[in-house]
Amino acid sequence: MAVSATLAAHQVVEQRRRAGLPVLPLSFGQAGVPVHPLLVEALAGAATRNDYGPPAGDPALLEAAADWWSRRGLPTVPEQMVSAPGSKALLFATLYAVGGDVVLPRPSWVSYAPQVRLAGANVLSVPTRPGEGGVPDPDLLEKAVRGADRPVRAVVVTLPDNPTGLLPSPDSVRRLCALARELDLTIISDEIYRDLVYPGAELVSPAELAPERTVVTTGLSKNLALGGWRLGVARFPQGRLHDTVLTIGSELWSCPTRPVEAAAALAFGEPPELRSYVVRAAEVYRRINTAVARRFAAAGAEVTLPHASFYCYPDLSPRLSGLTGPQAAARLLGDHGVAVLPGVEFGEEESSLRFRVATGQLTGRTDEQRRTVLDASDPLEVPWVAESLEHLSGALDAFLR
Ligand SMILES: Cc1ncc(COP(=O)(O)O)c(C=O)c1O
Repeated sequence: MAVSATLAAHQVVEQRRRAGLPVLPLSFGQAGVPVHPLLVEALAGAATRNDYGPPAGDPALLEAAADWWSRRGLPTVPEQMVSAPGSKALLFATLYAVGGDVVLPRPSWVSYAPQVRLAGANVLSVPTRPGEGGVPDPDLLEKAVRGADRPVRAVVVTLPDNPTGLLPSPDSVRRLCALARELDLTIISDEIYRDLVYPGAELVSPAELAPERTVVTTGLSKNLALGGWRLGVARFPQGRLHDTVLTIGSELWSCPTRPVEAAAALAFGEPPELRSYVVRAAEVYRRINTAVARRFAAAGAEVTLPHASFYCYPDLSPRLSGLTGPQAAARLLGDHGVAVLPGVEFGEEESSLRFRVATGQLTGRTDEQRRTVLDASDPLEVPWVAESLEHLSGALDAFLR
């Protein structure tokens, strides 16, 4: 098993930069806004917290996160939750605790399949419906689970989705929930991009429709761009799963990082300054991400305009043949300085010419640049954003000519 594809791609981009070569960084799923000063203050104020805390998380954090979910239509009490250094750790602990084979949507985020294998289970890869993301096509899921020769116990869904930036239709979520009941599957709903849904798009969480069997995870890595602070929270249904994951956490990470918990309690409490900061960030991502998707469409790619986050997932097959996805990605980077990840990293065939395009880093390389983009009346007119878009169009025209 290799280092996570998205982290490895980031290293390649950094190497090119160090060598003085031009590069458009569209391979790494990193958010692109500075840390809000209120969070810096909260973290600094808690720096002397050097004790081990409660394994599920500090009571103030759990209470704030429970209210955060309750405000989003999922009534929650602190006893339902476990927090950890990142939601990635919680996803793995949950997969391990549930046991059995796991259905993943195709495409889906790079880390789910390796996590399932690390937990000793097999993946059933089930395509999403065209134009949707994050939820396997319910008809195909039913067939795959009924035909499986080993027990299948869980399905992972991503709302909104990475890599596609899309939401599933409410109908797909309803069908998924009904089938999960019939087939006795636990639904693990990764909702880390939930606050980056664009206006007009509708997110229906499986936890609303199948609350007795849905685990929801979230964190601060995307909405507030705190990936390196490592903080995630999982919300469990009634039952033993919460306690099993808590036991696993107590043996693996002991407790979340104490100073970060203090900042996280503030973040989940959503004072107006932070709430409007996330809304503004989502709007900036929407503008840039949609513009990037349109540039791909203009170059002849097939792409559904994203519903959320800073990802889009164009298909270059209408304009490209004779190369595998990894070969095409290597050419795009080597010859045209554009770094994207091929669909094979998200569970597709090697031959797939769909690519995950991550646009979060187009806001700039420094905090000063990122602040300028956040404050701009039109983010697309900020010079380095406009230059990136031009670089992309030029590269695609030359590559697909
Ligand atoms: C779908 C998805 N889930 C989880 C994560 C990781 O979250 P965390 O930083 O909370 O571990 C990412 C980060 O790229 C992601 O895209």
